Amino acid sequence: MKVTISVIKADVGSIGGHTKPTPEMMDAVRAELAAGIARGDVIDGRVTHTGDDIAIIMSHTKGVANQDIHVGLAWKAFISATNVAKEQGNYGAGQDLLVDAPSGNVRGAGPAVAEIEFDLLPNHRPAESFMVYAADKCAPGAYNLPLYLAFCDPMHNGGLLLSPRLHEGFTLTIIDMDHKGGDRVIKLDVPERIWDVCALLRDMDRFAIEAIHSRAFPEEQVASISATRLHNIAGKYTGKDDPIALVRNQGIFPAPEELIEPYVIGHYVTGDARGSHTMPIMPVALNTPVAGIFCLPIVSCIGFSMDGNGHFAKNYVDFFGDVTWDATRLHIQQKAIEMRRQGFFGVAMASQTEIAYTGLIDTLKSLDKEFITR
Ligand code: 13P
Ligand code: MG
Ligand code: MG
Repeated sequence: MKVTISVIKADVGSIGGHTKPTPEMMDAVRAELAAGIARGDVIDGRVTHTGDDIAIIMSHTKGVANQDIHVGLAWKAFISATNVAKEQGNYGAGQDLLVDAPSGNVRGAGPAVAEIEFDLLPNHRPAESFMVYAADKCAPGAYNLPLYLAFCDPMHNGGLLLSPRLHEGFTLTIIDMDHKGGDRVIKLDVPERIWDVCALLRDMDRFAIEAIHSRAFPEEQVASISATRLHNIAGKYTGKDDPIALVRNQGIFPAPEELIEPYVIGHYVTGDARGSHTMPIMPVALNTPVAGIFCLPIVSCIGFSMDGNGHFAKNYVDFFGDVTWDATRLHIQQKAIEMRRQGFFGVAMASQTEIAYTGLIDTLKSLDKEFITR
């Protein structure tokens, strides 16, 4: 049986600023998901939030980029939550819904999408489990470093040495997010090409890992990451690109403990206040609001199991909600405070290219006229 896991996430409004959606908005999305299950479009699903972004996690048999799932369910659900947000006077109602009515699928219309279609339970995969990462106040390149470390670096993932299947390596699909008019992608096999991978991924504002496939079983996709830039769609700053990632785990893929290990670093990413600064990303429990200084970037990670009919196990594991991450959080908060000490100077503010979509560019343009050449 071919099954697709689709995760579609959008920010359609929040309480008291860019913090979290209201329970009534979440209910509106849940109602549309329940209707989708009743129609038979969706097998199973969950609705969660990370910061002010609502994620719909679904299993179905309709394949990726399917209209019934993207538009008939997810877009409709986000419109319904937007209407609730408007009634309630919430901040940024409908923020990520950048077009009037998307046709076909919602990729490029504002919401973040991660999807994988696969053959459920073939011989080499006797159990199916997967993780959903959702990040708020940062861009898709935020996953570059943790994915690189988990899939390319045995110093972080000893499984690359211990498991014969992992040892065969992976194919990374990296997208040029600055390119307009068609997707510009490169496929690189690791470990052979890791230095080329690094050369691209270090520029997280432009390049992001979009997909990862097994080389032992090339038909098996292990990861899918939403890698589009809202400002490229809207032509101006409209909020951040708050990415999601779907990663299958165990067996022929890395184990969850290997996949989450790099998040202990609290690496600095572009994002936070006005999408225009550099701050460390903090692993948090699911359904955490954004309440840290300068909209500290946050990431949640939950794990699911799926049965042979595409249903999720009733419960999920909240990896970053665990007490073992408390010390990491304190450390990352300390890193954030240190960065904030230098305010807007140098690397504390995002790169020149990133702030090109902000009001600072108008100031620079008008100052340019006052310059004289001596
Ligand atoms: P969101 O994209 O999560 O709404 O954040 C916008 C912002 O600029 C916060 O400072
Ligand atoms: Mg918002
Ligand atoms: Mg957001």
